[in-house]
Amino acid sequence: MSGSGVSARVCVVTGAARGLGLEIVRLLAGRGDVVVATDVDTDALAAAIRDLGASVAGRPLDVRDPDACTALAAAVVADHGRLDVWVNNAGILATGPSFELDLATQRRVIEINTFGTMNGTLAALSPMRDRGRGSIVNVVSLAGLAPVPGMAAYSASKHAALAFSLSTLGELRATGARNISISCLCPAGIWTPMLHDRTDDFWASAPFGGRLLQSTDVAARAVALIDRPQPVAAVPRLMGPFSRLTAATPRLATALTPLALRLAAAQQRRTAKRLAAG
Ligand SMILES: NC(=O)c1ccc[n+]([C@@H]2O[C@H](COP(=O)([O-])OP(=O)(O)OC[C@H]3O[C@@H](n4cnc5c(N)ncnc54)[C@H](O)[C@@H]3O)[C@@H](O)[C@H]2O)c1
Repeated sequence: MSGSGVSARVCVVTGAARGLGLEIVRLLAGRGDVVVATDVDTDALAAAIRDLGASVAGRPLDVRDPDACTALAAAVVADHGRLDVWVNNAGILATGPSFELDLATQRRVIEINTFGTMNGTLAALSPMRDRGRGSIVNVVSLAGLAPVPGMAAYSASKHAALAFSLSTLGELRATGARNISISCLCPAGIWTPMLHDRTDDFWASAPFGGRLLQSTDVAARAVALIDRPQPVAAVPRLMGPFSRLTAATPRLATALTPLALRLAAAQQRRTAKRLAAG
């Protein structure tokens, strides 16, 4: 039992070497859960989890590899008897107009963000369906709810991840699986290494348009979704309806894009100045 009186859960987190994934691992470990932290960057992962205690184990995992995801899920069940939670967090960002960005980069975004989420979800579902219970949290983005100029492939990859997750959730319910959840977390911009070197990248200005979130706050929402699943959870909450409204009014949203990007870029410059001033 953890300190909170909740039974320890056996959890897998992908993309856990830094940023949001590492923060989720910290929170889960702090609650007394058993955590298998995974990342493609194994050196960074080992360094990141060194002080997190014996309940956190690091494993290499490239989420693009479906067989590796399946093997990891099976190994977790072999080692711990069950798999309670799988967090698909690994993701990358590429910015710039789609017609200027090379196709290989855009393909990589889709492979990691979309196929990586599909691979992890399907790997987790295998033992969870056998047991009839489990929680999957898929880290999507507000960019999965509305298009984001400057991040076309990223936004496309997140829309696809959201649609896959929600369709699969419906299929679980349609086949009688009531105790398996898939929650999609859709945060606004978070101050993680993903954005650290993008404070002067005009095409990365969208996430700087509002108040940047802290990874600790977003990780807390991710962990809350394990106990109280929600098909879609936007952070901040109000941004969910706002993004959906943007998506529902494409003519207006497209007309306003030059202004919206200029305003976001101005906010991005203010953020950069504030950060530089310490
Ligand atoms: N930072 C933001 O503003 C923001 C906003 C909304 C959603 N998100 C999403 O949150 C998630 C975490 O992002 P972050 O901001 O912590 O980014 P980050 O760049 O700080 O960390 C991403 C982690 O994913 C790992 N990774 C990359 N490719 C991988 C692969 N093929 N297999 C396994 N691991 C891989 C990286 O090594 C890294 O440790 C991503 O899915 C991202 O799209 C981020």
